[in-house]
Amino acid sequence: MTLVDGAQTPTASSARVPVLQAKDLVKTYGRVVGLDGVSLELYPGEVLAIIGDNGAGKSTLVKCLTGAEIPDEGQIMLDGRQVAFRRPQDARAEGIETVYQNLAVSPSLDIASNLYLGREVRKPGILGSVFRVMDTAGMRRSARAELTDLGISTLQDVTVPVENLSGGQRQAVAVARAAAFGSKVVVLDEPTAALGVRESNQVLALIRTLRDKGIPVILISHNMPQVFEVADRIHVQRLGRCAATITPESHSMTEAVALMTGAATA
Ligand SMILES: Nc1ncnc2c1ncn2[C@@H]1O[C@H](COP(=O)(O)OP(=O)(O)OP(=O)(O)O)[C@@H](O)[C@H]1O
Ligand SMILES: [Mg+2]
Repeated sequence: MTLVDGAQTPTASSARVPVLQAKDLVKTYGRVVGLDGVSLELYPGEVLAIIGDNGAGKSTLVKCLTGAEIPDEGQIMLDGRQVAFRRPQDARAEGIETVYQNLAVSPSLDIASNLYLGREVRKPGILGSVFRVMDTAGMRRSARAELTDLGISTLQDVTVPVENLSGGQRQAVAVARAAAFGSKVVVLDEPTAALGVRESNQVLALIRTLRDKGIPVILISHNMPQVFEVADRIHVQRLGRCAATITPESHSMTEAVALMTGAATA
C-alpha cells in the first residue's frame, strides 16, 4: 500500500498521516509494567529516536511495533489501517524491517546471500520452478546495485563472507538488507552500541540515506550526540510511559537527559 500524495505534504504533523502509529500500548510481564499506555507516531521520511534510561520500556515498545511482543492493550496502525502482528514475520511482511543489535546477519554467508536471506531469487523458467536453482548471479548483481544506491562504498565485493567484515560493515549489511526490499519502516535497536567512531558514522550516514529515500527510521540509542545529530524528533521514554516528545531544536541534550531521568518534566 502506498501513501496518497497529500499525506506527504510537509504541513503541521496533525495534517499528515503517520506511516506507523501506536495508541495507548500496555504491556505487562507478570507484575512488571513494561509499557503503561504509550502512544507514538512515525511520519513519512523522518528519523524518530527513542531514548530513555535502562528499563524505561524502549525495547518493549519496539518489540510491540515489530511483532516480537504482543501488547496487552492498545492499537497499532500502519498507513492508518489497524494491524495485529503475532510474530516478527507478520510485521516484516508489511514492510517493517528491524535490525537487531546482535542478530543482524549470518556470518558464514556472503554479503549478497545475506541481503537475500529468506527472499532468495530462483532462476527463471523450469530451472527455477522445478529444480529450484538459485539465480546467484542475478542476486549478486542486484546486491551490488543496492549497495551502490545506498552509497555503501566499503563493500565492493558482495561475495565476501560477512564474518570477514568489521562490525560497522556488518551493520551496514544489516541496514542495507532492511532498506533493500521496498521497506516501509526501518527499526534500529542500538545499532552503534558496539561500534567505533568511523563505523558509527557510516551507520548514521546510512540512516540519513534511508530518510532521504523517504523511508522513516525508528532509532533506539543511548548515544545523545548521535541522537541529536540524526533525529528529527525524539520520543523520551520513562518508567513505561512517554515523558515527552521533543526535537533537537526544542531541547538541549542536558534538558533531554533531565526528562529521561525525571529531573525535569515536560
Ligand atoms: N521478557 C520480560 N520478562 C519480564 N520483564 C521484562 C521482560 N522484558 C522486559 N521486562 C521489563 O520491562 C521493563 C522495560 O524493559 P525494556 O527492555 O523495554 O527496557 P529498555 O528501555 O529497553 O531498557 P535498556 O535500556 O536497558 O535496554 C523493565 O522493567 C524490564 O525488566
Ligand atoms: Mg532495551
